[in-house]
Amino acid sequence: MTRTAYVNGQYMPLGVASVRIEDRGLQFADAAYEVCEIKAGRIIDERRHMERLGRSLDALQIPMPMSQAALGAIMREVVRRNRVRDGIVYLQVSRGVAARNHAFPRAPVRPGIVVTARRSDTIEMTRRADQGVTVITLPDNRWERVDIKTVGLLPNVLAKQKAVDAGAFEAWLIDKGGFVTEGSATNAWIVQKDGTLVTRPADRGILRGITRGTLFEVVAGEGLRIEERPFTVAEAKTASEAFLTGSSLSIMPVVEIDGHAIGRRQPGPITARLRAVFHDYAEIGPVWSSLVP
Ligand code: PDD
Repeated sequence: MTRTAYVNGQYMPLGVASVRIEDRGLQFADAAYEVCEIKAGRIIDERRHMERLGRSLDALQIPMPMSQAALGAIMREVVRRNRVRDGIVYLQVSRGVAARNHAFPRAPVRPGIVVTARRSDTIEMTRRADQGVTVITLPDNRWERVDIKTVGLLPNVLAKQKAVDAGAFEAWLIDKGGFVTEGSATNAWIVQKDGTLVTRPADRGILRGITRGTLFEVVAGEGLRIEERPFTVAEAKTASEAFLTGSSLSIMPVVEIDGHAIGRRQPGPITARLRAVFHDYAEIGPVWSSLVP
């Protein structure tokens, strides 16, 4: 099946879809993005993703290119054309095309919009979730505004590659005080021996993950407790459970940090429970096709 992308008003085959070489997203990473989960043909937590996109664009002083509803309709159409049942949809909004100059273009330019979608390997994801994944730790060398979801992801890319080279799934980034900030593309969580979940506050040093936000509701609904505070690598290593959250993987158990086993080197019961009920609490959008049950 030929995959389809949406670029600036047109749906086209992914293999030929392209942006202009002076798109500021390409030259300056002057763009924001969102990744939403698709489950059973439906976009998960679209409203929250759109609100965060609005906040990122505001911070970058890029105008919202169209209404959230119109962007949602395009995302659904890309999901439909790619017949994605389970996977992700990617939405990127750049400042637009202008002669290369660090300062914003003087005359207003139209923001550039790119939307793609792809299936995920659900069997592989389930296998990973059943076994748990491993993480390594690395210094967090990103800029201070990691709360803005920009495509300036080079430190994240290098960290993730280091993890892959080390045979690990994710890299947890450590701030100058020795506290875990987040993963290269996920938020980081631990579970204390008394069952309390611990995750870093989202006011500084991390992206305010949408999965993280929804999980707060899951935790309340399941009668559990969250402490929002920074935690160190040493504390994580002695936690009874650890896990990652992100739109492309929902909730993923961590069973090893820097070679050190967490709990019994198996996904913990609280993590497994949260993963099992997560979508009962998330906002589930309309389905793209009557073919999807
Ligand atoms: N990553 N932290 C970082 C640095 C991220 O890039 C992401 C998302 C998250 C989790 O956020 P959310 O729950 O909203 O997906 C945390 C996406 C999936 C990506 O870049 O592919």
